[in-house]
Amino acid sequence: MKKMIKIIGLGLWLSAVVLSNASAQQFGKPEDAIKYRKSVFFVMGTQFGQIGSMVQGKVPYDPKVAAESASVVEVMSKLPWPAFTEGTDKGETKAKGEIWMEPGKFKEAQDKLIAETAKLATAGKTGKIEDLKTAFAATAGACKNCHDSFRSK
Ligand code: HEC
Repeated sequence: MKKMIKIIGLGLWLSAVVLSNASAQQFGKPEDAIKYRKSVFFVMGTQFGQIGSMVQGKVPYDPKVAAESASVVEVMSKLPWPAFTEGTDKGETKAKGEIWMEPGKFKEAQDKLIAETAKLATAGKTGKIEDLKTAFAATAGACKNCHDSFRSK
């Protein structure tokens, strides 16, 4: 029995080491986590802006380009969140302390974005600009909703 407990204890200890190691490996330093999430947001924002220019009539609607951008935005919407690690509220960042004080609300805002960008990607594939307009507006609402609470100006 004692041996059993020892083995279980060792197993737990090992998995804890592996887990903490995995996150440490993904982002060696807090600065790396910040750089990573900002890069993702930058790509997401650029691709999303391209769709915005089309639905606002600033550039001609190109269904193929719009569909590709919408797919990129969908993929990007899933990436920034693990990079909001402890200790990354300081430095070259606009992340507000509320992110770590209200994790449930922050997670909700992420889920909302992920849901809306999935609809955006679907709308991109229909080739109808009206569909894209609707999904663009809903997605933009999800961006703003989070920025208002969790990103400083
Ligand atoms: C769940 C919250 C959340 C959602 C949703 C969200 N963002 Fe952000 N965004 C942030 C936070 C927090 C930052 C600040 C990151 C930092 O400075 O570390 C940020 C930063 C940015 C930046 C600045 C990146 C840079 O270069 O510093 C852009 C651009 C951006 N977001 C675009 C978007 C767009 C476009 C959407 C919607 C398609 C969106 N975001 C949705 C939380 C969110």
